[in-house]
Amino acid sequence: MAAKYTSLTDDLYRYMAAHRSDARDPVLDALEAETANLGEVSRMAISRDQGSFITFLAATLGAKWALEVGTFTGSSSIGIARGLVSGGKLICYDQDFKWTSIARRYWMKAGVHEKIELRLGNAHDLLPRLRPIKPLDFVFIDADKEYYDFYYETLLPHVRPGGIILFDNMLMNGKVIDPTEKFVPAVRAIDQLNHKLAIDPRIHGVLIPMADGLYLCRKLPPPY
Ligand SMILES: C[S@@+](CC[C@H](N)C(=O)[O-])C[C@H]1O[C@@H](n2cnc3c(N)ncnc32)[C@H](O)[C@@H]1O
Repeated sequence: MAAKYTSLTDDLYRYMAAHRSDARDPVLDALEAETANLGEVSRMAISRDQGSFITFLAATLGAKWALEVGTFTGSSSIGIARGLVSGGKLICYDQDFKWTSIARRYWMKAGVHEKIELRLGNAHDLLPRLRPIKPLDFVFIDADKEYYDFYYETLLPHVRPGGIILFDNMLMNGKVIDPTEKFVPAVRAIDQLNHKLAIDPRIHGVLIPMADGLYLCRKLPPPY
């Protein structure tokens, strides 16, 4: 059977992005504009449709306890926090003071600041010290690619069965299937993780072509 998918053009992407419930959002419009002023790094922010999808997922899951690695100026954290149930908490890890200062301002504007705690520093050092009060319902990983597997192995034991770990940039702009890119450490790390997740008995995983590829992992109950 022929592969079944619809290729996106810019026009079709815009059509898709416009036809969702929260396509108009003045707070995110302002955050996007301020992030764009940072220059080329602004491309690190998740897309607006990804933000809606993340809110949708967290809300569908009834997520209360969430964690993010890689906050930047706050787009994904606002998406997660908006999907949490009342009384929910999101712990955010990032090492950049300037970018997360922007995030803090927009958490206030979006009215989600009371749900979010920022842990500023290198996640390689901070995450192993994590002692969550409750098992995590929802995790989003969007930081240094070579460490995705480390984040996964560190956080999976803290996720409840049925909880979700979501990874961004799992297609690496298509480089995961380009043999000339295989020796770039970040590309190799993501390619190896895609292979690992596909056969990992601890999770049910699916890689979807949203933005630069989102890998969704739902933790399964033991025994594995
Ligand atoms: C792709 S951006 C995150 C984008 C964000 N999720 C959003 O929606 O705007 C990656 C972020 O990870 C942070 N980061 C990279 N390596 C890190 C590390 N070892 N520890 C903590 N933060 C890190 C960077 O400072 C940057 O803000």
